Amino acid sequence: GEQPKPPQQTWTFAGPFGTFDRAQLQRGFQVYREVCSACHSLSLVSFRNLAEPGGPGFTTQQAAAVAAEAKVKDGPNDQGEMFERPGRLADRFPSPYPNTQAAAAAFNGAAPPDLSVMAKARTYERGFPTFLFDILTQYQENGVDYIVALLTGYEDAPADFKVPDGGNYNKYFPGHSLAMPPPLADGVVAYTDGTPQTTQQYAKDVAAFLMWTAEPHLEARKRLGFQVMIFLLVLTGLLYFTKKKIWHEVE
Ligand code: HEM
Repeated sequence: GEQPKPPQQTWTFAGPFGTFDRAQLQRGFQVYREVCSACHSLSLVSFRNLAEPGGPGFTTQQAAAVAAEAKVKDGPNDQGEMFERPGRLADRFPSPYPNTQAAAAAFNGAAPPDLSVMAKARTYERGFPTFLFDILTQYQENGVDYIVALLTGYEDAPADFKVPDGGNYNKYFPGHSLAMPPPLADGVVAYTDGTPQTTQQYAKDVAAFLMWTAEPHLEARKRLGFQVMIFLLVLTGLLYFTKKKIWHEVE
């Protein structure tokens, strides 16, 4: 079938001076925790990361409280048994399934993938001429745009499309049949800051959160990149005048 292009969103973290919107990351985390974590893991993200600079800006106490509510597998203990215990700051966000086989069995073989770097792993073709501008502007938001599109892209299948058993029709998923049922609906997550409680808003917030998990040092990278450009500019000037001085008797 025809593959529509995910609409381009506006993101605070786009561009050379982009930074994350802390409130958005916190809301996105709330959506992840209350909805997505029922099926997905974030196996490259530790609870302590929630309190690190450049992220959602939780306090260490808040991150520890989040960790303590997670059930983490550990062991073997003195009796050689595996056991579950409350999470700690150093633990990773666990999968709700005991193993990948069990996860796959729950969805006809399509296990919910780990979401840690999903925002960077997925992309789509933006086509001519957009991709030429993307080279210049270093557009890096294709993955987040795709996640928003996917989460809001469920609709009734066209009459000529037979959705396989366990499949859900999604206009942005390649092939259109996806094992993930629509995870969001208006009002499913209760925001406390007055932000609209709509599928579109949840999708944007959780996608932004997943951009941070995929690139936790984005802000530091952009800051350093700018400092490097300034440094190179100053160095170019100094080298120019040095050259003038050294060669002033020749020419
Ligand atoms: C796949 C995100 C909630 C089950 C995916 C993919 C993403 C994603 C980005 C990969 C799609 C691709 O391959 O391009 C999310 C987000 C969620 C969420 C952000 C919360 C808002 C859930 C829930 C379930 C679930 C609650 C289970 C009821 C799955 C499954 C797949 C999947 C089974 C694999 C689909 C396939 O390959 O056919 N999800 N998900 N997800 N998700 Fe979710």
